[in-house]
Amino acid sequence: MKKIAVLTSGGDSPGMNAAVMEVSRFSALAGMPLVGIKRGFNGLIGKFSPKDSYTHMELDTLLDIADQPGTYLRTARCTEFYEPEYQEKAVAFLKSLDIAGVVVIGGDGSFHGAQAMCRLGMPCIGIPGTIDNDLEYSETSLGFDTAVNVCVDAVRSIRATSRSHDRPAVVEVMGRNCGDIAMATAMSTGSEIVVVPEVKNWDVMKVAKRLKELVERGNTRATVVVAEGAYKTMKPFDHNKFLAPYTKVYEGEPMNVRRLTHVLRYKTGTEARYNTIGYTQRGHEPTAHDSSFAFEAAYMAVELLKKGIGNEVIGVRNGRVFHMPIDKAMLIKPKFKRKIYELINSL
Ligand code: F6P
Repeated sequence: MKKIAVLTSGGDSPGMNAAVMEVSRFSALAGMPLVGIKRGFNGLIGKFSPKDSYTHMELDTLLDIADQPGTYLRTARCTEFYEPEYQEKAVAFLKSLDIAGVVVIGGDGSFHGAQAMCRLGMPCIGIPGTIDNDLEYSETSLGFDTAVNVCVDAVRSIRATSRSHDRPAVVEVMGRNCGDIAMATAMSTGSEIVVVPEVKNWDVMKVAKRLKELVERGNTRATVVVAEGAYKTMKPFDHNKFLAPYTKVYEGEPMNVRRLTHVLRYKTGTEARYNTIGYTQRGHEPTAHDSSFAFEAAYMAVELLKKGIGNEVIGVRNGRVFHMPIDKAMLIKPKFKRKIYELINSL
């Protein structure tokens, strides 16, 4: 009887628990006992006590986790795992538990960990779990759809006040290096301006100019959706110097949603207000879209490990769940949807 393991790593994302429950279901169906590794790769390197590092998983006790956001197995970043010494330690630990393969649920960093273990002879299957949707080989990842739906609901609620008070809104969503949540939110809410990290040297003065034009045309409740990672790709602009005549500035305060909104407010003469959606994007029950992907991905992952196949990642292409070699997937460079970006910011 082959024993397999499952872990969640990186930022928690809705659908991770659904995937863990389904891995448990399909491993039970395949007659393969399942071990849950706790706190991501930390659970493999002896950082915590055995009780805090792994647990034997029984389907009966997992049934109720599928609807819950967050991750039952816990998660944590693990910087040590970039070092070969810890990767080897992890594989040796898995072998000591008689584990024949691991399902790794996480994002880009987690997949690098999985890739390292594959190279050391431990078969791993990756399931993309990140709200950012920054793994180019797959059209979607667990949590992305849920996060976008949370943001869409938030923009619609914020817009009620924007509309009532003739106040433009600046809404910050997550996305460290990837503007997918911002773009999908903007598209789904008819927002007029989107600001994303993929656009290098975007100009805050141009954003202000566009907002002013919108307001002058009568759109007094225009919405700016900004990805949290976008400030670092902004064309250099001394916002503290600009804001000093209008409001209190804190020397050295970096550009952020508050400062951006203040620049827009004073540049456009509007009462622009800001909102940050934050962790609510990660804390919602998974949508049906994310849960059904979890189901199919878990089935495929267990089937592959059952056949002794590792070194693969699961994804979605043309709406279909598929798998491909992890080494190939990790080489695919992000492709920015420039046309959509331009359309959102037009007219
Ligand atoms: O990777 C998902 C994500 O939500 C990013 O959008 C964000 O930058 C990051 O995680 C923040 O993670 P944490 O606050 O857990 O460090």
